[in-house]
Amino acid sequence: MHAHVILAAGQGTRMRSRLPKVLHPLLGKPMLAYAVETALALNPAKLVVVVGHGKEKVLEALEGYPVEVAFQEEQLGTAHALLQAEPFLRDFPGPTLVTQGDTPLLSPSTLGGLLERVGEGAGMALLTVELSDPTGYGRILRQGEEVLGSVEEKDATPEVRAIREVNAGAYAFDPFLFRALKEVRNENAAREYYLPDLIAIYRAHGKRVAAVRGAAEEALGVNTREELARVEGILLARLRAEWMRRGVRMILPESVYLEPSVELAPDVTLWPGVVLKGKTRIGEGAEVGPYALLEDTVLEPGARVLGHTVAQGAVIAGGADAGPFARLRPGAVLREGVHVGNFVEVKNSLLHPGVKAGHLAYLGDAEVGEGANIGAGVITANYDGKRKHRTWIGKGAFIGSNAVLVAPVRVGDGAMVGAGSVITQDVPEEALAVARGRQRNLEGYARRKREGG
Ligand code: UD1
Ligand code: CA
Repeated sequence: MHAHVILAAGQGTRMRSRLPKVLHPLLGKPMLAYAVETALALNPAKLVVVVGHGKEKVLEALEGYPVEVAFQEEQLGTAHALLQAEPFLRDFPGPTLVTQGDTPLLSPSTLGGLLERVGEGAGMALLTVELSDPTGYGRILRQGEEVLGSVEEKDATPEVRAIREVNAGAYAFDPFLFRALKEVRNENAAREYYLPDLIAIYRAHGKRVAAVRGAAEEALGVNTREELARVEGILLARLRAEWMRRGVRMILPESVYLEPSVELAPDVTLWPGVVLKGKTRIGEGAEVGPYALLEDTVLEPGARVLGHTVAQGAVIAGGADAGPFARLRPGAVLREGVHVGNFVEVKNSLLHPGVKAGHLAYLGDAEVGEGANIGAGVITANYDGKRKHRTWIGKGAFIGSNAVLVAPVRVGDGAMVGAGSVITQDVPEEALAVARGRQRNLEGYARRKREGG
């Protein structure tokens, strides 16, 4: 049985952002959520998150997670941050894991390894990694297998800076932890209470400090935008590789963006530049064309989305297709065999099987019957400036180009609407509605005008 503390009170000055560092998103999820989920994977008896900078927003991000929250009013350093968790863990009898909210690639098994070392009798265990560029990290001082300390960059001599083994910021401690923390002083370049000073303090109390060497990638801490992008790239590469193993075809996979919440089936094809966000689900054999963006959208097996389409909260059935350049907004439902073409916008509308809207139309708050044909330029005028109204278009109806259907209005099954009509009254089944000025031809008028007549 162990406890876990995540340090997440820092501002993250180097990000140059109003957003607290631990809330910067990685694949649509705040960085801190990765640390929390990794901690939870090991079933801690208690999980305490130390918050401070941007507290309100950080608390929002923690909603729904079984965590306790400690508050660090002033950010006086990582040891001081950890001390704020003491009231929650004072009499906790087991070991405590400590990680940082800005180290999202750590794996539960690596942390398990740290706990094991404490279980085997070490007073403290920490994760170290070897980096080709150790800039910014604490450098590990060793004497053979013994770890003597970790020196922050700011306090390091050039010789120490040349050390490439660094402190990854993940630790396990025995219950001596909070007594040891009280011995940390802030006599250093940053005038901060450094957590890595516990290495020397544990040793001074005759306790063994174990260093567990890990993979460089796992230790990546996010202090800058560049590091954020690097970590996001690694998470993306892992995710893409996993989906390809499960049978997804990606053309130019490095150009495809997707979030962990997305679900894909075998034989899905993703063309270059595809962006898949939120609760998007794509069924077997479905295809997404180049530079399409799908968010919270469902593609049933065999559906097709063509290039540059943007869909949010839409459902597309098998045998239906949308795009190129289609815009599907929340509540757009395209049933089997529907075709929605370029520059067509659909919002909160149900398109029954076989509906065709090939170009340049707006269908909002509408229900369109099976097999109806929507001409170019057709608009459902659903908004009167105050309220939204519905339009019903019957089965097999034919709406001519550039017609405006002023809602609320109903076009009956099998009816036709003449091109350019402004329809303000219901159209009966099988009727033709024409609502536009009659054409008048003035013989010879154009010639007379040209000749100055
Ligand atoms: C820290 C370590 C460094 C290690 C590196 C690994 C210290 C002094 N240094 O440096 O040895 O190599 O992580 O990534 O521990 N935080 C608070 N309150 C504070 C200060 C920080 O909660 O007063 C939190 C931050 O939100 C962050 C974490 O602690 O999540 C680490 O702080 P940061 O300033 O990023 O430390 P580094 O300079 O990266
Ligand atoms: Ca850091």
